[in-house]
Amino acid sequence: KSIVILISGRGSNMEAIVQAAIPGARIAAVISNRPNAGGLAFAAAQGIATAVVDHTAYADRAAFDAALAAVINRHAPDLVVLAGFMRVLTPDFVRQYEGRLINIHPSLLPSFTGLHTHQRALEAGVRVHGTTVHFVTAELDCGPIIIQAVVPVMAGDDEAALSARVLAQEHRIFPQAVRWIVEDRVSIDGSVARVAGVREP
Ligand code: GRF
Repeated sequence: KSIVILISGRGSNMEAIVQAAIPGARIAAVISNRPNAGGLAFAAAQGIATAVVDHTAYADRAAFDAALAAVINRHAPDLVVLAGFMRVLTPDFVRQYEGRLINIHPSLLPSFTGLHTHQRALEAGVRVHGTTVHFVTAELDCGPIIIQAVVPVMAGDDEAALSARVLAQEHRIFPQAVRWIVEDRVSIDGSVARVAGVREP
């Protein structure tokens, strides 16, 4: 299966997926909307094709998304992975990749959609927090959930400590989700994703 990974920054989740060396998965390209994304250097060093589609060069979201789709489609991917990709995508873009576009979000969805999830979790006083890999639908951070990981919120946690604990889990569950999809074990049943051979919630 051919996979295109979209990043905006550090790219540690992309790195985790590449390093998982998932049988049957070929990382066809890593694309960033920011020219200075740290993850681009890692991808290039791995011999993976890289590209930048700089959102600041486009008049509006529709124009950016069209340019992005054109670059993605050169690689005819079976799966498009948003790994710390910090742009909201238009419904038209999302529709084009329906069922083959996944994202990682740093909270236990449906709690804490949007930005600053760790700080908001601390302010809400939740005892558990975590991360979610889900299919992307037109509504932000709302698509069918593939896998989640829970971490405790500990006394004395600040945003840095909590986000580091969550990130370690992101690096575990994101490659796992990709592996399941490459193995054709994930199906979408309405608003719910099912994984064959994994105990249903
Ligand atoms: C991750 O925490 C991801 O969940 C969030 O942005 C961060 C990206 O980190 N959306 P990285 O670029 O994968 O290192």
